[in-house]
Amino acid sequence: RSLHSAATRGASHISRRGYASEPVPERKVAVLGAAGGIGQPLSLLMKLNPLVSSLSLYDIAGTPGVAADVSHINTRSKVVGYQGEEELGKALEGADVVIIPAGVPRKPGMTRDDLFNINAGIVKALATAISKYCPHALVNMISNPVNSTVPIAAEVFKKAGTYDEKRLFGVTTLDVVRAKTFYAGKANVPVDGVHVPVVGGHAGITILPLFSQATPKANLDDDIIKALTKRTQEGGTEVVEAKAGKGSATLSMAYAGALFADACLKGLNGVPDVVECSFVQSTVTELPFFASKVRLGKNGVEEVLGLGPLSDFEQQGLESLKGELKSSIEKGINFANK
Ligand code: NAI
Repeated sequence: RSLHSAATRGASHISRRGYASEPVPERKVAVLGAAGGIGQPLSLLMKLNPLVSSLSLYDIAGTPGVAADVSHINTRSKVVGYQGEEELGKALEGADVVIIPAGVPRKPGMTRDDLFNINAGIVKALATAISKYCPHALVNMISNPVNSTVPIAAEVFKKAGTYDEKRLFGVTTLDVVRAKTFYAGKANVPVDGVHVPVVGGHAGITILPLFSQATPKANLDDDIIKALTKRTQEGGTEVVEAKAGKGSATLSMAYAGALFADACLKGLNGVPDVVECSFVQSTVTELPFFASKVRLGKNGVEEVLGLGPLSDFEQQGLESLKGELKSSIEKGINFANK
């Protein structure tokens, strides 16, 4: 009861300060896999987000501790931890945004596709629960291989009759975060003003940063653009190798995941011109799913934006990623329909 009134006080405080006439809406965010390497710092960052009023932390183990810890932070949202499958329904009920970093990460020498056998089943089960308990939530899929887990979730939702292509997102924000950081370093410009679209998918060569569209403009040589592209494509592997068996990117991923969820919340709340790259159902190419810039709104995807002009190098990259991306998408669809 006292938590509830604290949350209410917090909300009215925010609405007085930030939005003179419009109160900040109540928003429930659920994190599935909240006790993991990504889940914990992501839960922390979502606890710091004033757009969240209810934060639901779910995992198969470890969530009571994470939730107790995070709940002591004196920000708006009320935090509840849920542990084990029998509590999944309560964790999801009423969620506006569901973020999924559940599943195993890579070890050195593994590709994201090597995670398929374990993570595909986890994602299928979680998507089944989402279609039952919060079919209208925006789903932010972090679990790899994203190129397959997003199509798996789509198929599960289709079978349940709850699929809305505007509400399913593969989180590729970390690729954008990396492209911005690496570009700023080479272009020698302040990183906070840098924009770089990253399109395609989220694995190896399917990650296609469009440095020809990067701003602020810098006339970088072709070999530097090539090296930047390769580093962005292999950024995840760089971290996996540096962690030497202790997992993959967690802190930068938590940052990227929090950024994307914040964009979804802003869109839901009617903030105009919220644009982020994401792997979504798409007609931008002949592939059924593709990452590109997406405008977010009150129903999720408001508009999938086109690729814009590509350099010859990017055009080649686009053609050579299509085969791999197509087969990863089909692998996901086939798994879900098995
Ligand atoms: P982790 O192993 O540290 O944490 C995963 C968590 O998921 C664990 O707490 C585990 O108990 C939980 N989990 C397992 N089965 C579950 C289920 N059925 N329901 C709910 N929770 C379940 O792994 P980490 O490092 O947090 O990575 C998580 C996923 O995120 C991996 O698949 C990884 O490849 C992916 N990832 C995606 C990135 C992206 O850019 N989209 C970047 C980095 C990682």
